[in-house]
Amino acid sequence: MKVLIVKDYEQMSRIAADIIADIVRRNPSAVLGLATGSTPVGMYKLLSQFVEEKKASFKKVRTVNLDEYVGLGAEHEQSFAHFMRTHLFDSVDVAPNNTHIPNGLADDPQSECDRYHRLLQQLPQDVQVLGLGSNGHIGFNEPDTPFDSTTHTVRLAESTVRDNARFFASREEVPQTAITMGISEIMNARKIIVLASGKNKAQAVKAMVEGEVTPACPASVLQNHADCTVIVDEDAASLLAGNYR
Ligand code: F6R
Repeated sequence: MKVLIVKDYEQMSRIAADIIADIVRRNPSAVLGLATGSTPVGMYKLLSQFVEEKKASFKKVRTVNLDEYVGLGAEHEQSFAHFMRTHLFDSVDVAPNNTHIPNGLADDPQSECDRYHRLLQQLPQDVQVLGLGSNGHIGFNEPDTPFDSTTHTVRLAESTVRDNARFFASREEVPQTAITMGISEIMNARKIIVLASGKNKAQAVKAMVEGEVTPACPASVLQNHADCTVIVDEDAASLLAGNYR
């Protein structure tokens, strides 16, 4: 793992956006694995600016997202499909047909997982961007998810429901289940970038970078990836013991 400790959220977002823009410039039809949540919002804002300033183009880019809530349609304001349109897709020149997110309204969630797994086999990620759950989850692979998992439905951990309640009017409205890319499909990405900022991620960052590789901390599996860069701000890095400067 390469660990970059940066001053703050701004700097984390800038470095991540530069890496993604560089990948897209080298390979205009790159497959980008994308995440939702608060962490990548700054990176998406910068990527939108790059496209507006013609410093990058997403015309041929393909995207695959990590996850979606079961029960929320693409038009629902808290769905990840809606999030991606608001924060990135509507402000860059990506073709909507080239953007992929699990369908939270699928009649048969298992067939949707199988479909998404096949899609990921056809579109292996050139780069996968990850946020980090305060419990060490990646995508919605909660603690104790097997490392060989593929796309599956998951019952969200109590802590995840609590963490994500901030996006909903009340905790009761947070969906309890989701479809998530599995750990083996995340690990299949050619390159992985993990972003984390803020003190509430410090424990998870420590377990991911310096802890034992164990399903108890799903993100620890990333220690086994050949090209994984962790970009964390000083607060998120505050419990790391190693010298990464
Ligand atoms: C989002 C996802 C999650 C988040 C994680 C951190 O698609 O899969 O793993 O990346 O929960 O969320 P934030 O960034 O809101 O702290």
